[in-house]
Amino acid sequence: MNSLQSFLAVNPAAAAAGGLGLGGARLRPSRVSACLATPTPPPPTSAPLAPAAARRELSAASRAVVEDEARYIVGTYNRSRVVLVAGRGCKLYDADGHEYLDMAAGIAVNALGHADPDWVAAVAAQAGTLVHASNVQYTVPQVALAKRLVEASFADRAFFANTGTEANEAAIKFARKYQRVARPDGDAPTEFMSFTNCFHGRTMGSLALTSKVQYREPFAPVMPGATFGEYGNLEEAKKVIQSGKIAAVFVEPVQGEGGIHSATKEFLQGLRDACDEARALLVFDEVQCGLGRTGYLWAYEAYGVVPDMMTLAKPLAGGLPIGVVLVTEKVASAINYGDHGTTFGGGPLVCQAALTTLDKIQKPGFLEEVAKKGENFKQLLSTKLSGNAHVKEIRGIGLIIGIELDVPAGPLVDACLNAGVIVLTAGKGNVVRLVPPLIISEKELEQAAEVIRDCLPALDASTS
Ligand SMILES: Cc1ncc(COP(=O)(O)O)c(C=O)c1O
Repeated sequence: MNSLQSFLAVNPAAAAAGGLGLGGARLRPSRVSACLATPTPPPPTSAPLAPAAARRELSAASRAVVEDEARYIVGTYNRSRVVLVAGRGCKLYDADGHEYLDMAAGIAVNALGHADPDWVAAVAAQAGTLVHASNVQYTVPQVALAKRLVEASFADRAFFANTGTEANEAAIKFARKYQRVARPDGDAPTEFMSFTNCFHGRTMGSLALTSKVQYREPFAPVMPGATFGEYGNLEEAKKVIQSGKIAAVFVEPVQGEGGIHSATKEFLQGLRDACDEARALLVFDEVQCGLGRTGYLWAYEAYGVVPDMMTLAKPLAGGLPIGVVLVTEKVASAINYGDHGTTFGGGPLVCQAALTTLDKIQKPGFLEEVAKKGENFKQLLSTKLSGNAHVKEIRGIGLIIGIELDVPAGPLVDACLNAGVIVLTAGKGNVVRLVPPLIISEKELEQAAEVIRDCLPALDASTS
Protein backbone atom coordinates (compact mmCIF):
# COMPACT_ATOMS: atom_id res chain seq x y z
CA MET A 1 0.00 0.00 0.00
CA ASN A 2 1.52 3.34 -0.92
CA SER A 3 1.13 6.54 1.12
CA LEU A 4 -1.81 7.83 -0.88
CA GLN A 5 -3.59 4.52 -0.51
CA SER A 6 -2.97 4.46 3.23
CA PHE A 7 -4.25 8.06 3.44
CA LEU A 8 -7.46 6.99 1.75
CA ALA A 9 -7.68 3.92 3.93
CA VAL A 10 -7.79 6.11 7.04
CA ASN A 11 -10.00 8.69 5.28
CA PRO A 12 -12.61 6.50 3.59
CA ALA A 13 -15.02 9.43 3.46
CA ALA A 14 -12.58 11.41 1.35
CA ALA A 15 -12.23 8.57 -1.10
CA ALA A 16 -15.93 7.75 -1.18
CA ALA A 17 -16.91 11.37 -1.75
CA GLY A 18 -14.44 11.68 -4.59
CA GLY A 19 -13.12 14.54 -2.49
CA LEU A 20 -9.63 14.48 -3.93
CA GLY A 21 -9.89 17.16 -6.58
CA LEU A 22 -7.75 16.90 -9.68
CA GLY A 23 -6.92 20.26 -11.21
CA GLY A 24 -9.70 21.92 -9.22
CA ALA A 25 -12.37 19.54 -10.55
CA ARG A 26 -14.10 16.85 -8.53
CA LEU A 27 -12.97 13.42 -9.50
CA ARG A 28 -15.33 10.77 -10.62
CA PRO A 29 -14.76 7.68 -8.46
CA SER A 30 -13.40 5.74 -11.44
CA ARG A 31 -10.56 8.22 -11.83
CA VAL A 32 -9.76 8.04 -8.12
CA SER A 33 -9.44 4.29 -8.52
CA ALA A 34 -7.24 4.82 -11.55
CA CYS A 35 -4.94 6.97 -9.40
CA LEU A 36 -4.93 4.41 -6.64
CA ALA A 37 -4.07 1.67 -9.07
CA THR A 38 -0.89 3.44 -10.19
CA PRO A 39 2.00 1.16 -9.33
CA THR A 40 4.62 3.78 -8.41
CA PRO A 41 5.01 3.84 -4.63
CA PRO A 42 6.11 7.11 -3.03
CA PRO A 43 9.77 6.88 -2.01
CA PRO A 44 10.31 6.50 1.73
CA THR A 45 11.86 9.73 2.95
CA SER A 46 15.07 8.02 4.10
CA ALA A 47 15.59 6.11 0.84
CA PRO A 48 17.84 7.42 -1.93
CA LEU A 49 15.94 9.73 -4.23
CA ALA A 50 14.55 8.34 -7.46
CA PRO A 51 16.26 9.76 -10.53
CA ALA A 52 14.56 12.97 -11.57
CA ALA A 53 13.60 11.80 -15.04
CA ALA A 54 11.89 8.71 -13.64
CA ARG A 55 9.88 10.78 -11.16
CA ARG A 56 8.83 13.36 -13.74
CA GLU A 57 7.39 10.84 -16.20
CA LEU A 58 3.63 11.50 -16.02
CA SER A 59 1.07 8.72 -16.26
CA ALA A 60 -1.49 8.89 -19.05
CA ALA A 61 -4.15 10.05 -16.55
CA SER A 62 -1.95 12.92 -15.33
CA ARG A 63 -0.98 13.85 -18.88
CA ALA A 64 -4.68 14.09 -19.71
CA VAL A 65 -5.17 16.59 -16.87
CA VAL A 66 -2.22 18.68 -18.08
CA GLU A 67 -3.56 18.63 -21.64
CA ASP A 68 -7.13 19.49 -20.56
CA GLU A 69 -5.81 22.35 -18.43
CA ALA A 70 -4.00 23.74 -21.45
CA ARG A 71 -7.18 23.39 -23.51
CA TYR A 72 -9.84 24.63 -21.06
CA ILE A 73 -8.26 27.04 -18.55
CA VAL A 74 -7.20 30.62 -19.25
CA GLY A 75 -3.43 30.49 -19.38
CA THR A 76 -2.52 32.68 -16.42
CA TYR A 77 -0.47 30.07 -14.54
CA ASN A 78 2.87 28.55 -15.48
CA ARG A 79 2.39 25.35 -13.49
CA SER A 80 4.83 22.60 -12.52
CA ARG A 81 3.92 19.32 -14.19
CA VAL A 82 2.49 17.71 -11.07
CA VAL A 83 -1.13 16.73 -10.58
CA LEU A 84 -1.81 16.85 -6.84
CA VAL A 85 -4.65 14.77 -5.48
CA ALA A 86 -4.25 14.57 -1.72
CA GLY A 87 -2.46 15.97 1.28
CA ARG A 88 -1.93 14.95 4.87
CA GLY A 89 0.15 16.83 7.39
CA CYS A 90 3.11 18.32 5.50
CA LYS A 91 2.95 15.74 2.72
CA LEU A 92 1.29 16.07 -0.67
CA TYR A 93 0.56 13.24 -3.06
CA ASP A 94 0.33 13.32 -6.81
CA ALA A 95 -1.93 11.27 -9.04
CA ASP A 96 0.96 8.99 -9.90
CA GLY A 97 1.62 7.95 -6.31
CA HIS A 98 4.56 10.24 -5.52
CA GLU A 99 4.91 11.88 -2.15
CA TYR A 100 6.16 15.46 -1.71
CA LEU A 101 7.27 17.39 1.33
CA ASP A 102 5.30 20.62 1.19
CA MET A 103 7.60 23.59 1.87
CA ALA A 104 5.16 25.98 0.17
CA ALA A 105 1.85 25.41 2.01
CA GLY A 106 -0.13 26.56 -1.03
CA ILE A 107 1.81 29.86 -0.91
CA ALA A 108 1.75 30.38 2.85
CA VAL A 109 -1.84 29.21 3.23
CA ASN A 110 -2.01 25.74 4.79
CA ALA A 111 -0.73 26.73 8.23
CA LEU A 112 -2.06 23.51 9.79
CA GLY A 113 -0.83 21.39 6.90
CA HIS A 114 -3.28 19.23 5.04
CA ALA A 115 -6.35 17.41 6.38
CA ASP A 116 -5.84 18.43 10.00
CA PRO A 117 -8.44 16.20 11.72
CA ASP A 118 -9.89 18.94 13.97
CA TRP A 119 -10.15 21.37 11.06
CA VAL A 120 -11.75 18.70 8.86
CA ALA A 121 -14.26 17.85 11.60
CA ALA A 122 -15.13 21.53 12.20
CA VAL A 123 -15.59 22.24 8.49
CA ALA A 124 -17.65 19.08 7.96
CA ALA A 125 -19.88 19.91 10.94
CA GLN A 126 -20.38 23.50 9.77
CA ALA A 127 -21.01 22.34 6.20
CA GLY A 128 -23.80 20.16 7.54
CA THR A 129 -25.21 23.04 9.58
CA LEU A 130 -24.99 26.31 7.62
CA VAL A 131 -22.59 27.13 4.79
CA HIS A 132 -23.85 30.45 3.49
CA ALA A 133 -26.45 32.97 4.51
CA SER A 134 -25.35 36.32 2.98
CA ASN A 135 -24.69 39.41 5.08
CA VAL A 136 -28.35 40.35 5.23
CA GLN A 137 -28.70 38.46 8.53
CA TYR A 138 -26.38 37.74 11.46
CA THR A 139 -24.45 34.49 11.64
CA VAL A 140 -22.73 33.15 14.73
CA PRO A 141 -19.25 32.17 13.41
CA GLN A 142 -18.69 35.56 11.71
CA VAL A 143 -19.33 37.51 14.90
CA ALA A 144 -17.31 35.03 16.98
CA LEU A 145 -14.36 35.34 14.59
CA ALA A 146 -14.47 39.14 14.59
CA LYS A 147 -14.48 39.13 18.40
CA ARG A 148 -11.59 36.69 18.47
CA LEU A 149 -9.48 38.73 16.02
CA VAL A 150 -10.20 41.99 17.81
CA GLU A 151 -9.34 40.50 21.20
CA ALA A 152 -6.06 39.12 19.80
CA SER A 153 -4.88 42.32 18.07
CA PHE A 154 -4.65 46.12 18.12
CA ALA A 155 -7.95 46.37 16.27
CA ASP A 156 -11.44 47.36 17.36
CA ARG A 157 -13.40 45.97 14.43
CA ALA A 158 -13.14 43.61 11.45
CA PHE A 159 -14.46 43.61 7.90
CA PHE A 160 -14.56 40.25 6.12
CA ALA A 161 -13.68 39.76 2.47
CA ASN A 162 -12.64 36.67 0.51
CA THR A 163 -9.02 37.14 -0.56
CA GLY A 164 -5.93 39.18 0.19
CA THR A 165 -6.45 41.53 -2.71
CA GLU A 166 -10.03 42.17 -1.61
CA ALA A 167 -8.90 42.88 1.92
CA ASN A 168 -6.49 45.49 0.55
CA GLU A 169 -9.17 46.86 -1.75
CA ALA A 170 -11.41 47.35 1.29
CA ALA A 171 -8.55 49.05 3.16
CA ILE A 172 -8.08 51.45 0.20
CA LYS A 173 -11.77 52.37 0.29
CA PHE A 174 -11.78 52.73 4.07
CA ALA A 175 -8.73 55.03 3.89
CA ARG A 176 -10.37 57.30 1.32
CA LYS A 177 -13.63 57.41 3.29
CA TYR A 178 -11.80 58.04 6.56
CA GLN A 179 -9.96 61.00 5.06
CA ARG A 180 -13.16 62.46 3.59
CA VAL A 181 -14.89 62.25 6.96
CA ALA A 182 -11.84 63.56 8.85
CA ARG A 183 -11.50 66.55 6.48
CA PRO A 184 -14.96 67.63 5.43
CA ASP A 185 -13.53 70.92 4.11
CA GLY A 186 -12.84 69.20 0.79
CA ASP A 187 -9.04 68.82 0.81
CA ALA A 188 -9.00 65.16 1.84
CA PRO A 189 -5.96 63.30 0.51
CA THR A 190 -6.80 60.46 -1.89
CA GLU A 191 -3.39 59.06 -2.83
CA PHE A 192 -1.40 56.09 -1.52
CA MET A 193 2.18 55.11 -0.89
CA SER A 194 3.72 51.66 -1.07
CA PHE A 195 7.24 50.31 -1.57
CA THR A 196 9.67 48.55 -3.88
CA ASN A 197 9.28 44.75 -4.00
CA CYS A 198 5.83 44.95 -2.43
CA PHE A 199 2.88 42.80 -3.44
CA HIS A 200 -0.65 43.75 -2.46
CA GLY A 201 -2.80 41.89 -4.99
CA ARG A 202 -4.15 41.81 -8.52
CA THR A 203 -7.37 43.84 -8.48
CA MET A 204 -7.19 47.40 -9.82
CA GLY A 205 -6.61 49.19 -6.50
CA SER A 206 -4.29 46.64 -4.89
CA LEU A 207 -2.54 46.21 -8.23
CA ALA A 208 -1.88 49.95 -8.39
CA LEU A 209 0.01 49.56 -5.09
CA THR A 210 1.95 46.48 -6.25
CA SER A 211 5.47 47.33 -7.33
CA LYS A 212 6.16 44.88 -10.18
CA VAL A 213 5.71 46.90 -13.39
CA GLN A 214 4.96 43.81 -15.48
CA TYR A 215 1.92 43.02 -13.30
CA ARG A 216 0.49 46.53 -13.78
CA GLU A 217 1.47 47.69 -17.24
CA PRO A 218 -0.69 45.35 -19.36
CA PHE A 219 -3.77 46.59 -17.50
CA ALA A 220 -3.08 50.32 -17.32
CA PRO A 221 -4.59 52.61 -16.30
CA VAL A 222 -4.84 51.18 -12.79
CA MET A 223 -6.01 53.30 -9.84
CA PRO A 224 -4.17 56.63 -10.12
CA GLY A 225 -2.28 58.30 -7.29
CA ALA A 226 0.14 55.58 -6.14
CA THR A 227 3.72 56.51 -5.25
CA PHE A 228 6.38 53.85 -4.69
CA GLY A 229 9.21 54.50 -2.25
CA GLU A 230 12.27 52.39 -1.64
CA TYR A 231 11.52 49.77 1.05
CA GLY A 232 13.53 50.84 4.07
CA ASN A 233 14.25 54.39 2.89
CA LEU A 234 12.58 56.42 5.62
CA GLU A 235 13.74 59.84 4.49
CA GLU A 236 12.24 59.35 1.05
CA ALA A 237 8.99 58.01 2.55
CA LYS A 238 8.71 60.95 4.94
CA LYS A 239 8.92 63.42 2.04
CA VAL A 240 6.10 61.66 0.19
CA ILE A 241 3.91 61.38 3.29
CA GLN A 242 4.52 65.02 4.25
CA SER A 243 3.24 66.15 0.84
CA GLY A 244 -0.21 65.98 2.41
CA LYS A 245 -1.58 64.01 -0.55
CA ILE A 246 -1.31 60.56 1.01
CA ALA A 247 -4.46 58.97 2.44
CA ALA A 248 -2.64 55.81 3.56
CA VAL A 249 0.70 54.04 3.42
CA PHE A 250 0.64 50.32 2.68
CA VAL A 251 3.58 48.22 3.85
CA GLU A 252 4.36 44.55 4.46
CA PRO A 253 6.37 44.20 7.70
CA VAL A 254 7.97 41.17 6.01
CA GLN A 255 7.74 41.08 2.23
CA GLY A 256 6.90 37.65 0.81
CA GLU A 257 6.51 37.78 -2.98
CA GLY A 258 9.15 40.50 -3.14
CA GLY A 259 11.88 38.16 -1.91
CA ILE A 260 11.59 37.80 1.90
CA HIS A 261 12.73 41.22 3.05
CA SER A 262 12.08 42.21 6.66
CA ALA A 263 11.50 45.85 7.56
CA THR A 264 13.54 47.37 10.37
CA LYS A 265 11.87 48.69 13.50
CA GLU A 266 13.21 52.16 12.66
CA PHE A 267 11.55 52.09 9.25
CA LEU A 268 8.13 51.01 10.54
CA GLN A 269 8.29 53.34 13.54
CA GLY A 270 9.35 56.20 11.24
CA LEU A 271 6.38 55.49 8.96
CA ARG A 272 4.11 55.44 12.00
CA ASP A 273 5.39 58.84 13.17
CA ALA A 274 5.25 60.39 9.69
CA CYS A 275 1.68 59.14 9.18
CA ASP A 276 0.62 60.52 12.55
CA GLU A 277 2.12 63.90 11.72
CA ALA A 278 0.48 64.06 8.29
CA ARG A 279 -2.80 62.46 9.48
CA ALA A 280 -2.28 59.64 6.97
CA LEU A 281 -3.24 56.07 7.86
CA LEU A 282 -0.73 53.26 8.20
CA VAL A 283 -1.81 49.90 6.77
CA PHE A 284 0.16 46.72 7.45
CA ASP A 285 -0.40 44.04 4.82
CA GLU A 286 0.05 40.83 6.80
CA VAL A 287 -1.68 38.68 4.19
CA GLN A 288 1.45 36.51 3.87
CA CYS A 289 3.49 37.24 7.01
CA GLY A 290 0.64 37.35 9.55
CA LEU A 291 -0.97 34.74 11.76
CA GLY A 292 2.00 32.99 13.28
CA ARG A 293 4.31 32.74 10.30
CA THR A 294 6.98 34.94 11.89
CA GLY A 295 6.69 33.17 15.24
CA TYR A 296 4.54 36.07 16.46
CA LEU A 297 0.78 35.98 16.03
CA TRP A 298 1.04 39.21 14.04
CA ALA A 299 4.28 40.37 12.43
CA TYR A 300 3.75 43.89 13.83
CA GLU A 301 4.26 42.45 17.33
CA ALA A 302 7.87 41.70 16.39
CA TYR A 303 8.38 45.44 15.86
CA GLY A 304 6.18 46.97 18.52
CA VAL A 305 4.67 49.28 15.90
CA VAL A 306 0.90 49.36 15.56
CA PRO A 307 -0.97 50.17 12.33
CA ASP A 308 -4.38 51.77 11.81
CA MET A 309 -5.46 48.88 9.60
CA MET A 310 -4.09 45.39 8.99
CA THR A 311 -5.05 43.08 6.14
CA LEU A 312 -5.05 39.30 6.55
CA ALA A 313 -5.98 36.40 4.30
CA LYS A 314 -3.95 33.38 3.25
CA PRO A 315 -3.66 31.12 6.33
CA LEU A 316 -6.58 32.39 8.37
CA ALA A 317 -9.20 29.82 7.35
CA GLY A 318 -6.68 26.96 7.08
CA GLY A 319 -7.04 26.68 3.29
CA LEU A 320 -10.48 28.12 2.55
CA PRO A 321 -10.67 31.56 0.94
CA ILE A 322 -10.95 34.44 3.37
CA GLY A 323 -9.76 38.03 3.66
CA VAL A 324 -10.03 40.43 6.58
CA VAL A 325 -9.29 44.07 7.30
CA LEU A 326 -8.80 44.81 10.97
CA VAL A 327 -9.30 48.47 11.82
CA THR A 328 -9.24 50.84 14.76
CA GLU A 329 -12.43 52.55 15.93
CA LYS A 330 -11.10 55.79 14.42
CA VAL A 331 -11.28 54.22 10.94
CA ALA A 332 -14.44 52.20 11.54
CA SER A 333 -16.37 55.25 12.69
CA ALA A 334 -16.04 56.74 9.19
CA ILE A 335 -17.73 53.76 7.52
CA ASN A 336 -21.49 53.64 7.12
CA TYR A 337 -24.07 51.08 6.02
CA GLY A 338 -23.69 50.43 2.31
CA ASP A 339 -20.16 51.84 2.03
CA HIS A 340 -18.75 48.40 1.28
CA GLY A 341 -19.93 44.80 1.12
CA THR A 342 -19.52 41.35 -0.37
CA THR A 343 -21.80 38.38 -0.92
CA PHE A 344 -19.49 35.70 0.41
CA GLY A 345 -17.33 37.60 2.92
CA GLY A 346 -17.54 36.26 6.46
CA GLY A 347 -19.63 33.21 5.58
CA PRO A 348 -20.24 30.71 8.38
CA LEU A 349 -18.15 27.92 6.82
CA VAL A 350 -14.93 29.92 6.38
CA CYS A 351 -15.36 31.70 9.71
CA GLN A 352 -15.76 28.39 11.54
CA ALA A 353 -12.69 27.11 9.70
CA ALA A 354 -10.81 30.23 10.80
CA LEU A 355 -11.88 29.83 14.43
CA THR A 356 -10.53 26.28 14.39
CA THR A 357 -7.28 27.44 12.76
CA LEU A 358 -6.91 30.13 15.43
CA ASP A 359 -7.61 27.57 18.18
CA LYS A 360 -4.48 25.70 17.10
CA ILE A 361 -2.23 28.68 16.38
CA GLN A 362 -3.11 30.31 19.71
CA LYS A 363 -2.48 27.10 21.71
CA PRO A 364 0.18 27.77 24.37
CA GLY A 365 3.63 27.05 22.98
CA PHE A 366 2.62 26.89 19.30
CA LEU A 367 4.17 30.21 18.28
CA GLU A 368 7.30 29.59 20.35
CA GLU A 369 7.71 26.33 18.42
CA VAL A 370 7.37 28.18 15.09
CA ALA A 371 10.05 30.67 16.17
CA LYS A 372 12.37 27.90 17.37
CA LYS A 373 11.88 25.74 14.27
CA GLY A 374 12.47 28.76 12.03
CA GLU A 375 15.69 29.71 13.80
CA ASN A 376 17.00 26.12 13.74
CA PHE A 377 16.06 25.78 10.07
CA LYS A 378 17.88 28.96 9.11
CA GLN A 379 20.97 27.70 10.97
CA LEU A 380 20.69 24.33 9.27
CA LEU A 381 20.38 25.94 5.84
CA SER A 382 23.40 28.13 6.57
CA THR A 383 25.46 25.12 7.57
CA LYS A 384 24.40 22.98 4.64
CA LEU A 385 24.29 25.58 1.85
CA SER A 386 26.71 28.35 2.66
CA GLY A 387 29.68 26.66 0.94
CA ASN A 388 27.90 26.96 -2.41
CA ALA A 389 28.99 29.94 -4.50
CA HIS A 390 25.45 30.55 -5.80
CA VAL A 391 24.01 31.10 -2.30
CA LYS A 392 24.23 34.81 -1.45
CA GLU A 393 22.05 35.09 1.62
CA ILE A 394 19.68 33.09 3.81
CA ARG A 395 17.19 35.37 5.54
CA GLY A 396 13.77 35.60 7.12
CA ILE A 397 12.05 35.21 10.44
CA GLY A 398 10.09 32.25 11.80
CA LEU A 399 8.91 30.06 8.95
CA ILE A 400 9.14 32.63 6.16
CA ILE A 401 12.64 32.10 4.83
CA GLY A 402 14.37 33.08 1.61
CA ILE A 403 17.54 31.78 0.01
CA GLU A 404 18.89 34.43 -2.34
CA LEU A 405 20.91 33.12 -5.26
CA ASP A 406 23.14 34.83 -7.80
CA VAL A 407 21.22 33.08 -10.60
CA PRO A 408 17.54 32.29 -11.34
CA ALA A 409 16.15 29.80 -8.83
CA GLY A 410 13.98 27.93 -11.36
CA PRO A 411 16.33 25.01 -12.01
CA LEU A 412 16.77 24.45 -8.26
CA VAL A 413 13.00 24.61 -7.68
CA ASP A 414 12.48 22.03 -10.46
CA ALA A 415 15.21 19.77 -9.11
CA CYS A 416 13.69 19.92 -5.62
CA LEU A 417 10.29 19.02 -7.02
CA ASN A 418 11.80 16.07 -8.84
CA ALA A 419 13.42 15.05 -5.58
CA GLY A 420 10.09 15.26 -3.75
CA VAL A 421 10.22 18.68 -2.08
CA ILE A 422 7.94 21.54 -3.16
CA VAL A 423 9.49 25.01 -2.82
CA LEU A 424 8.61 28.39 -4.35
CA THR A 425 10.46 31.28 -5.92
CA ALA A 426 10.18 34.95 -4.95
CA GLY A 427 11.77 38.28 -5.72
CA LYS A 428 13.08 38.56 -9.26
CA GLY A 429 13.01 34.78 -9.51
CA ASN A 430 16.41 34.52 -7.80
CA VAL A 431 15.07 33.70 -4.32
CA VAL A 432 13.91 30.30 -3.10
CA ARG A 433 10.95 30.95 -0.82
CA LEU A 434 10.28 28.53 2.03
CA VAL A 435 6.89 28.95 3.74
CA PRO A 436 5.98 25.46 4.98
CA PRO A 437 2.96 24.56 7.11
CA LEU A 438 3.57 25.93 10.61
CA ILE A 439 3.12 22.41 12.04
CA ILE A 440 6.16 21.07 10.18
CA SER A 441 8.54 18.93 12.26
CA GLU A 442 12.26 19.52 12.78
CA LYS A 443 12.86 16.21 11.00
CA GLU A 444 10.94 17.36 7.93
CA LEU A 445 12.83 20.66 7.93
CA GLU A 446 16.10 18.71 8.03
CA GLN A 447 14.93 16.62 5.10
CA ALA A 448 14.10 19.79 3.16
CA ALA A 449 17.51 21.33 3.89
CA GLU A 450 19.26 18.15 2.71
CA VAL A 451 17.26 17.94 -0.49
CA ILE A 452 17.90 21.62 -1.29
CA ARG A 453 21.63 21.06 -0.70
CA ASP A 454 21.65 17.95 -2.89
CA CYS A 455 19.82 19.81 -5.66
CA LEU A 456 22.13 22.85 -5.77
CA PRO A 457 24.21 21.38 -8.65
CA ALA A 458 21.12 21.98 -10.84
CA LEU A 459 22.13 25.64 -10.75
CA ASP A 460 25.53 24.84 -12.30
CA ALA A 461 23.93 22.75 -15.03
CA SER A 462 21.74 25.75 -15.91
CA THR A 463 24.60 28.25 -15.96
CA SER A 464 27.25 26.14 -17.76
C1 LIG B 1 1.38 40.44 1.06
C2 LIG B 1 0.27 40.03 0.12
N1 LIG B 1 -0.79 40.82 -0.01
C3 LIG B 1 -1.81 40.50 -0.81
C4 LIG B 1 -1.80 39.34 -1.56
C5 LIG B 1 -2.96 39.01 -2.45
O1 LIG B 1 -3.67 37.94 -1.91
P1 LIG B 1 -4.68 37.10 -2.83
O2 LIG B 1 -3.86 36.32 -3.78
O3 LIG B 1 -5.43 36.25 -1.84
O4 LIG B 1 -5.56 38.08 -3.50
C6 LIG B 1 -0.71 38.48 -1.44
C7 LIG B 1 -0.65 37.24 -2.23
O5 LIG B 1 0.36 36.64 -2.42
C8 LIG B 1 0.36 38.83 -0.58
O6 LIG B 1 1.42 38.05 -0.45
